Amino acid sequence: MEKILVTGATGQVGSELTIALRNNYGPENVFAADKRPALNELSPSGPFCLLDVRDASAINQVVDANNIDAIFHLAALLSAVAEQKPQQAWDVNMNGLLNVLETCRAHRCALFFPSSIAAFGPETPSMNTPQDTIQRPSTLYGITKVSGELLCDYYHHRFGVDARGLRYPGLISSKTLPGGGTTDYAVDIFYAALKSQHYDCFLRADTQLDMMYMPDAIDAAIHLMTADSKQLKHRNAFNVTAMSFTPQQLAAEIQKHIPEFTIAYIVDPLRQAIADSWPRHMNDSAAKAEWGWQAQFDLSAMVTDMLKKITLT
Ligand code: NAD
Ligand code: SER
Repeated sequence: MEKILVTGATGQVGSELTIALRNNYGPENVFAADKRPALNELSPSGPFCLLDVRDASAINQVVDANNIDAIFHLAALLSAVAEQKPQQAWDVNMNGLLNVLETCRAHRCALFFPSSIAAFGPETPSMNTPQDTIQRPSTLYGITKVSGELLCDYYHHRFGVDARGLRYPGLISSKTLPGGGTTDYAVDIFYAALKSQHYDCFLRADTQLDMMYMPDAIDAAIHLMTADSKQLKHRNAFNVTAMSFTPQQLAAEIQKHIPEFTIAYIVDPLRQAIADSWPRHMNDSAAKAEWGWQAQFDLSAMVTDMLKKITLT
């Protein structure tokens, strides 16, 4: 990778991944793009352009003009928003990915595509979820993720596109707020704990989900994209995880730092139904064996770091 394009760069993952890539590959070699303007450090730290991934010719133009050889394609609508706008989510998540894959085919670019725990469904084993297992998601977001995994595999086998990807669990970040997912509670809770020492959680106390701290998520993406391709048997959609907890367990960990913190559960049926259809804990042994994946942050290390890094505005 020498010249990199990041789509959806203004989002929760993109705003940190772009900075990490600029630190590794040089600020001028990492082009950030999003359909909304960059409000954070993205724009001053390197090139940024407005780009809607549904516009195939605009993607081609950016890639062509800047000799891009790798695309980190992050633009998407996340689970809760996708359930509210299913047609738009299909358009952005599927047509956007197809446009990016076609550009990769034409310009011989490598591709990183983030899938999700949402690519599994209620019939999937929810504990120790295998790398290769039944995938019948019941959410529109999950349907676009499993379709995306298959499309990336197809472009690799059929056209030789070097497409690689991860199934991220819920991601927790101290820098950028999440963009409308079901696991957003695990970020919101920290702001509430620091601001008012109380949080109303939209998931049930016992809703166990896989999670990962953003520094590990960024490291995993870059690590996979620089791994020796001969070692990769799966290429796309590697299960990766770092920790697995319930809102009750996260609240108890926060109380170790803020003893007066309290939590109440005011369940949102839409997001609860989404969470109930997802795995509790994935098996990520394929990622460990094929490219040496290892998370650095567990629950206690993540909570300590989040409380240290979050700045209230
Ligand atoms: P986010 O919602 O914070 O950011 C997505 C970005 O995509 C936003 O900045 C948005 O403006 C942009 N976007 C939306 N429609 C677009 C379009 N038509 N053209 C260009 N840009 C558009 O999401 P995120 O958390 O940063 O997620 C990034 C990727 O990682 C997504 O593919 C998501 O499915 C995946 N993922 C995220 C998580 C998580 O917990 N955050 C977990 C698993 C997978
Ligand atoms: N964290 C994401 C969401 O909740 C899962 O991909 O939508």
